[in-house]
This record gives sequence, C-alpha cells and structure tokens, in this order.
Amino acid sequence: MKPDISPLTEHTGAEVLGVDLSRPIDVATCEELNRAFLEYSVLVIRDQNLSAVKLLNAVQIFGDIFEQHNTRFALPECPKIHYLSNQDHYANGERYIPGAGYHTDHSNDSIPPKATVLLAVELPDTGGDTQFVDMHRAYEGLPNEIKARIDSLKGMHVYQSKHSARKLMGLTPERQRNVPNSVVHPLVRTHPETGRKSLYLNPIRIEEIIGMPEDEALPLLEELLTHATQDKYQYRHRWRAGDLVLWDNRCLLHKANGDYPHTQNRYLYRVMLKGTVPY
Ligand code: SIN
Repeated sequence: MKPDISPLTEHTGAEVLGVDLSRPIDVATCEELNRAFLEYSVLVIRDQNLSAVKLLNAVQIFGDIFEQHNTRFALPECPKIHYLSNQDHYANGERYIPGAGYHTDHSNDSIPPKATVLLAVELPDTGGDTQFVDMHRAYEGLPNEIKARIDSLKGMHVYQSKHSARKLMGLTPERQRNVPNSVVHPLVRTHPETGRKSLYLNPIRIEEIIGMPEDEALPLLEELLTHATQDKYQYRHRWRAGDLVLWDNRCLLHKANGDYPHTQNRYLYRVMLKGTVPY
C-alpha cells in the first residue's frame, strides 16, 4: 500500500499514514519514505505497534544504527535502543527530564547521527510535546552581514558544555574512555544530501567558537539561538499513542517539554542512525 504523506507545517514535518513498520517494507515505499524524510525533516509515522527489537529492525530502512553515548539508558533486552523517561533522578534527587532545552543530538561525536527516532510507549494525558526548529530556514532568514560573519566559523563541541544551563547525566567510566573529549564542527553546515546550508548550534554542547573570545562568542551564540527558535521556524509535535517520530539532526534543533504532572509517566524508545562528518 502506498503511504499517505501530508505536510504538518509549511516547512517542517509530515504525517505518514498507511505504513506498518512491523512488516517488511517494499522498495518503492522505502524510497518514498526516505524521499519524504529529506523533504520534511520530521516524519510522524502514526499507529506503530513495535517492540524494541522490531523498532531496531524497522528503522534500518532509513540507515545504519548509531551507538548512543550514554549506555545507562540502554534497554537490557535490546541495548542499541535506549529509553527516555521522566522517572529518573540526578544523584541529588532532582528529577531528570531528558532532552529539555534546544539541542541537536550527539554533536560531540566526530560523526554525529543523521537522524533520531522516538517511539511513544507511554505518554502523559497532556503536554510533553517535542518542539523542532528548521535550521535551514533559520540560516536563510539571517541578515547577509551575519551570514558573512559566521559562514567560516567553527564550534568546539564537548559532552557537557560548561555554559549549558541543562546538566546531562554523566557517562559511565567505560563510555568516558570511548567518547571524544572534544570535536570541532562548522557553525554553518551543508546538508550532505540536499546541499542546503543550515545553522549547526548546540547550546548544551558548544564550549567555544574557535579563535573567538568568550565575551564575543557567547552573545553571538545566544543571538543565533534566539533567532533560530522563533515560532515561524517551528513545528511542535503533540504526541499520540503509536507515534514513531524520525527527525534529521543535520538541519533541526529539538527539545522536550517537562510541562505535565510528573506522577504520569512519559516513556519513549530512542534509536539513532549514523551520519557523516559535518562540512
Ligand atoms: C531528545 O532530546 O532526544 C528527547 C526529545 C523528547 O523526549 O521529546
């Protein structure tokens, strides 16, 4: 059956109906879904009923699996799938809301993941939306003099930036040995499949702009983030049971919202797909 694909905003996101990822997907459908992924950057594939193992098999129609960094969230029965839950706490007892605050996933890797997939397992009655912003449009909407100022700049990304308001859960000692201390990526990257330029920011991971003093770099990053996260560049996803959401980390920022009663569970499976070196 041909998937039914409809845009969710004028620039980002498409709803996909009529696909059952628990079954083998034919070549034409696979090509159609991959084409839609590049066009819309976020695919919301409705009505999926998948175990973690089935999810792992299904997402490989979009690419190869990327090993996520923080193995403390790996599912014992399927370690390449991690969970996101609002029921974990920091060592000081404070609740941990994964993904709160705009970011792009694992930009502290030398080859960051091209895509992330979430599958809703348990949702609060209301709230807990995921917000996405289109970093192609955000880049295109910058004044020319700012584009000229940032086009050749590079950011240093680390696991946890000292400037980030949001604190991540620490890596296990074994992962600390395997995850790079720091990597350098362009602040403006070119999408390897569409050729479009986008801003490549990450307030949680960018430690510095190479060669720029901190008192200049931090206001510039803040100005770019404020510009990029305007409503006009946004798609806000309201989760429904059975939603599988796949997004393109190369040209989007995203964030989770913790705006619901935490007596209710929000629990999703997460898997990522390998990307290429940003340029
Ligand atoms: C994430 O940032 O990977 C999580 C997003 C979400 O939970 O909505």
